[in-house]
Amino acid sequence: MQQHIRKVAIIGTGLVGSSAAYSILNQGICDELIMIDINKERAIGESLDLSHCIDFTNSRTKVHAGTYQDLGDVDIVVITAGPPPKPGQTRLDTLGIGAKIMEDMIPQIMASGFNGIFLIASNPVDIITYLVWKISGLPRNRVIGTGTSLDSSRLKTYLSEILDVDPRSIYGYTMGEHGDSQFAAWSHVSIGGKPLLQILDERKGEFGHIDLDQIVEDVKKVGFEILKRKGTTYYGIGNAIAFITKSIFNDDHRIIALSCVLDGEYGESELCTGVPAIITREGIKEIIELRLTVEEQEKFRKSTAVLRDYLASLGYEEKILATV
Ligand code: 2OP
Repeated sequence: MQQHIRKVAIIGTGLVGSSAAYSILNQGICDELIMIDINKERAIGESLDLSHCIDFTNSRTKVHAGTYQDLGDVDIVVITAGPPPKPGQTRLDTLGIGAKIMEDMIPQIMASGFNGIFLIASNPVDIITYLVWKISGLPRNRVIGTGTSLDSSRLKTYLSEILDVDPRSIYGYTMGEHGDSQFAAWSHVSIGGKPLLQILDERKGEFGHIDLDQIVEDVKKVGFEILKRKGTTYYGIGNAIAFITKSIFNDDHRIIALSCVLDGEYGESELCTGVPAIITREGIKEIIELRLTVEEQEKFRKSTAVLRDYLASLGYEEKILATV
């Protein structure tokens, strides 16, 4: 019997990469998992430790350390390599090192014959996703950043605590940069289909104290609150990576807020940013263009301006100017 072997490689086996691997193994998402790190001993150590989980899981996943040359027939390459922001830094402050890593690494990966899907979690994720797209030459539907998937989950977590509803019954997104300029598309947040803004209007006595701007501020800052206390974040993003990976292999057509290469959507091109998108076995099938309010459109524009400034600082301005 011929069966497709579902292969994932994780590049960067620090806390984010190893948490993603742990989550992927525990959910039986793929058949083979390759762990790659500049520190080869670390990748071997992680893969050995992870391989000892299998007896306690529901399906057998072969885990081993590898190199870029092993990526020719891999379905999904997850990139987590790069420095996490230090206390006081924003995600954008890590850009210089992250960009250099990609310029060195992506050509080596492509030289293996890799022709699958890149899933990028390295920060600043929107810029790094754009760089990987440019350097790899892959079609835009197969270069995806984790974007505002985690921020959207954080938004739902806060709302679930306030409203006492399961976060999985809350629909909505934060959009734009996975960083300080993101915003919540409140006009499209619903609880079991009922618009949040309508609920708040109808139940002022109960929910009149809710400050939506403060919730967005909390979503933006919570990564740094975690960082202050434990050095970095990894479980949330690890599970986001596993969730996106599973949605790809299952061909779920699930809608997730991801960092996508825009080509006219939301009036933007030559840029990656967080937008809701349908994800399938082929990558991004469709970017969902929400009808944003004028205020939300303005926030989206401000967020893309921040990202464009950073891309310009990397010398990508000519390509960008040619398209706007
Ligand atoms: C996070 O938001 C720091 O991007 C990382 O958890």
